[in-house]
Amino acid sequence: MSLLRTMPVEDVLNRGRQGGLIRRLSGVDLVGIGIGIIIGTGVFTLAGIEAKDHAGPAVVLSFVIGGVVAALAAVCYAELTSAVPTAGSAYTYAYATIGEVFAWIIGWDLLLEFALGAAVVSRSWSGYVSNLLGLPPEYFGEDATVNVGAMLIIAVLTVVAVAGIRESAWVTNALVVVKVSVCVLVVVAGLFFFRGANLVPFVPPAQPAEGGASLLEQPLVQALLGMDQSVYGFGGVLTAAAIVFFAYTGFEALANLGEETKRPRRDLPVGLLGSLAICTLLYVAVALVLSAMVPYQQIDEGAPLAAAFQSVGVPWVAGLISLGAVTGLTSVMMVELVTIGRIGFAMSRDGLLPRKLSQVHPRWGTPHRMTIGGAVVIMLLAGFVPISELADMVSIGALSGFVIVTLAVPVLRRRRPDLERPFRVPFSPWLPILAAVACLYLMSNLDVITWLRFGAWLVLGMAIYLLYGRRHSGLAAAARE
Ligand code: ALA
Repeated sequence: MSLLRTMPVEDVLNRGRQGGLIRRLSGVDLVGIGIGIIIGTGVFTLAGIEAKDHAGPAVVLSFVIGGVVAALAAVCYAELTSAVPTAGSAYTYAYATIGEVFAWIIGWDLLLEFALGAAVVSRSWSGYVSNLLGLPPEYFGEDATVNVGAMLIIAVLTVVAVAGIRESAWVTNALVVVKVSVCVLVVVAGLFFFRGANLVPFVPPAQPAEGGASLLEQPLVQALLGMDQSVYGFGGVLTAAAIVFFAYTGFEALANLGEETKRPRRDLPVGLLGSLAICTLLYVAVALVLSAMVPYQQIDEGAPLAAAFQSVGVPWVAGLISLGAVTGLTSVMMVELVTIGRIGFAMSRDGLLPRKLSQVHPRWGTPHRMTIGGAVVIMLLAGFVPISELADMVSIGALSGFVIVTLAVPVLRRRRPDLERPFRVPFSPWLPILAAVACLYLMSNLDVITWLRFGAWLVLGMAIYLLYGRRHSGLAAAARE
């Protein structure tokens, strides 16, 4: 039963008060950091690819559906972060509700999500920068033996992440201003080339998919049900929704800043819901403008937005889009590094990872050991392993975290009805259950190979927990005393 031991909420709150992280962030900082990690390459590439491959102009609807699912998860995060602000986020909520082994597994899963995310993003950052500045592909391209560009950018951002949460927020905010401006520019400039005729038919009729994917590349749900693959139609809109969901992932990182926010109970819900609302509006507008500019069959899959502007004779917008993508990727990595530090910090403080990792730097107030340790692993991955195809692991990692968080809401309400909850999810438990089902549905649309890789990562995590965490856990020590 020790696997299912839970941590009292008071302990979580006390640890937060004595944790040593410094409260420096305001609500505006949180909205900036949220947008910082949400807008990355997703919108710049997936809007076009999914319009062409699965949804037609109705990709707009796919972005709306993705935004609604993300919002369902975000309101659940908002309730938990306002009631129990912590550095551990989903990991700590699981610890306080369903038990230690689930907490460990979800913490392990989040480390995967953010570390792999940072490694994947640093490699595409390197590719973009080499394109923009004409740098040698043998050190910056996807085929580089050692991807120097990817390693360098992680090293630089790690210095900022270790220097302080204020510094990380400043850098993120500056990058956010650039990339949001680029998105707004795309929408405004695109309106001049808006052709309503390209939006008809809005949902192209369903048709069988050309060629078949191998079993490993099929969405899990199709492989399990033996369904024929088709594209377009309403099914295509849903498939595209699962894929464009990637563009929304990341907002949950805000929930790891509960011990560094000045007024967490008020500002965390504002940050979570505010950043997501702004990004949803931008995404839907970008998808609409793109679909109206180019007939969906003719969208370029490599650089859909840039090519759309080139095709209508305004190449300078295309250049700015690359700049938007580079700044977007930089802020995503920045927030990912900050987040890894906080999750690992919380896990190590509870004894599930070596305790030394949770030491806070006396001057900078950051979990420097965990941040640097995480960064070294990311640099090795990014420098030496061609991992771009692992991007779907980021989505499965995020979605499984969401499922735990949505379920933690009703569990905590039953267990601790007395807790002060400045933000409350409406219609609980129905809305959290709907959110969990929606996340599971999106997960089932990820391919079989992603599920197998994810399973392997969880088995490895389980082995580490049984050999190390179970015995070193703070709760185990308390039980022995
Ligand atoms: N949401 C981030 C992106 O779209 C990960 O790149």
